[in-house]
Order: sequence, then structure tokens, then C-alpha cells
Amino acid sequence: MKEMLSKIKEAALAEIAQINFDAADAKVVLENLRVKYLGKKGELTSVLRGMGQLSAEERPQIGQIANEVREFIEAKLENAKKVLLQKEMENQLKKEVIDVTMPGKRSFAGKMHPLTQVLDELEDIFIGLGFEIAEGPEVELDYYNFEALNIPKDHPARDTQDTFYISDNIVLRTQTSPMQIRVMETKKPPIRIIAPGRVYRSDTVDATHSPVFHQIEGLVVDKGVTMADLKGTLELFAKKLYGDDAKIRFRPHHFQFTEPSAEVDICCFACGGSGCSLCKGEGWIEILGAGMVHPKVLANCGIDPEEYSGFAFGAGIERIVMRRFGISDLRMFFENDVRFLKQF
Ligand code: DAH
Repeated sequence: MKEMLSKIKEAALAEIAQINFDAADAKVVLENLRVKYLGKKGELTSVLRGMGQLSAEERPQIGQIANEVREFIEAKLENAKKVLLQKEMENQLKKEVIDVTMPGKRSFAGKMHPLTQVLDELEDIFIGLGFEIAEGPEVELDYYNFEALNIPKDHPARDTQDTFYISDNIVLRTQTSPMQIRVMETKKPPIRIIAPGRVYRSDTVDATHSPVFHQIEGLVVDKGVTMADLKGTLELFAKKLYGDDAKIRFRPHHFQFTEPSAEVDICCFACGGSGCSLCKGEGWIEILGAGMVHPKVLANCGIDPEEYSGFAFGAGIERIVMRRFGISDLRMFFENDVRFLKQF
């Protein structure tokens, strides 16, 4: 029996030594060896089964040898397994080698739309002046968009602001001015807000018109607010936006919801005021509408016009951006052509 055990040991040792660790089936070979020598029906087990026939003196001796052989084979197999894992790891690393000198794939990062970029800048300017940002619905009640702004039904002032009607009393807002009413209805003075957003008019698309565009509204209401505050605020705004040399002028105008009203021009930065193609020979370019909040509008919102006064202004954002980047056709903002958008 001793002999059998030592034969098993020798045979196992020889077979383990012959394993080709690079072969694809090395793992299976190893497992088969384990079953062959140590498994339930393995060679060692069948020898041990015959131990019953041994004498009482022999049994512990043989038992000990058998255990030693088992431990020996186990250790060898364990060792072979380690070698195999090591080989597998090496092979995998070889397969997955990365050539760091190969050219990479360039990833394309998106960026903010030019309208958003400038809008962010405008917001920063006014936040710096102590304004808060107010936002409201684009689908708006006729009351807020027109009526409360002193533009009654059938008033000719509605003609220039024809829009899309959801129903008789619900429209797509034509201006951000309804935010004046919404804010004054819910806040008591002092009020200092800007309201940027999308507005709609039933205009035909061309280089300077679009049925959807953007405006930014400003509103300040407090005790003792005057036209001088309006001028100071807008002058500062123009300088921040167009540089310290920027000059603005106020021209009398008419808006239903301000009294007095003005249109505000900026001195043409292309020609410095002497007249060129950009300003159509005028030397000035209109940038926004403004005025002192009409007493009727204050009263519509439950604010006493005897006690409070305010100013308001509204500017088209597309125009500001077009001038900033020298864009000549407004349609490009909405065409989503990356070749255009990535230039800014
Ligand atoms: N909402 C006006 C428009 O779309 C612009 C405007 C003019 C806004 C005067 C104002 C303002 O707040 O005071 O034509």
C-alpha cells in the first residue's frame, strides 16, 4: 500500500509538471487532475478505502503517509493554480495593451447659445445693481399682457403687437411687460426686478423679425423714484454692456403704460456718431423703450400713485446680441446650425 501511495504521488507530480499553462484548456486540465487524484472517486480515495483490510499497527502509519501524499498533491495543485492565474493575468495585460502614442478621439463639448451667454451677462449687470430676477408665463392672460398695461381691447396700440390667441382672453405674451403687473400685484414697494424671457408676435420671418424672440424687462418702484434714476440706471447699463465710452440719448416716444415715455438710443459704436451703414446714417441706434410707470398702471396693481412712483424699461435681446457679435440675420439664432453656434 505504501508503494501504491508513492506511485500515486510520483504520477501526480509528473502530470502536474507537464501542464502547459499557455494552453487554452489549462484550467480544465488542472481541474481534471484534481478530480483524478483527490476526487471522491479519485485514486487516493480508492486506496484509502482499502485501509479496512490493514492491521491495527499498519493503519495509523499508512494513514499518516496517505495524508502526507494528499497534502503534497494538494499543495502542488494549489501552486499550479497560482501559476495559471498569473499566466492568465499576463495574457490579459498583453491583450489589453494601450498605445498611448495613438491619436485620441476628440470629444465635442457643447456650449451656451449666444442668446443665453448675453442674457447671463445682462442678468449679472442688474443683479450687481441690486435687482432681482422675476419669471412668468409665456401663455398669458390678455389682462396682464394688455389690459392692465393700459391697452384696452380695440385700442390701436394692439395693432403692432398682434399675437397668437389661445382663446379670447389668453394669448402668447407679446412682451415681458406683463411681468410688471404680476410683480406689483404680489410685492409691495420697494421693487427692483428684471424679467427676461421669450415673447411672441405674429410677424413674418425675415432677417430682423421672428414670431418668437426674447426681451428683458426692468421695473423699479419706490418712493421718490424719478426720471433721473431711470437715466442713471440705463447709462450705467449701457456702459457695462458696451464699454465706458458708450453714450445714450433719450427720445420722446409713446407707450401706453409709461408717462412720460422714451426710446433710448446708443451712440453708434461703428462710426462713433458720424453716420454709417450700421446706424443707417443716423449716428444713433435704438436699443430699448422706457418711461415712468403710468399712474393708472400703479393703481391697477393697488399701489398708490400719490405715494409711489417707478420707472420701467424693455429691450429686445436678439438685437443686443446681434450688435455684440456682428450677426446680420436673426434667423440664425433659431436654425440650430452648429457651424454658426460654435463661433461664439
Ligand atoms: N414692451 C415694450 C415693447 O415690447 C417695450 C417697453 C417700452 C417696455 C417701455 C417698457 C417700457 O417697460 O417702459 O415694445
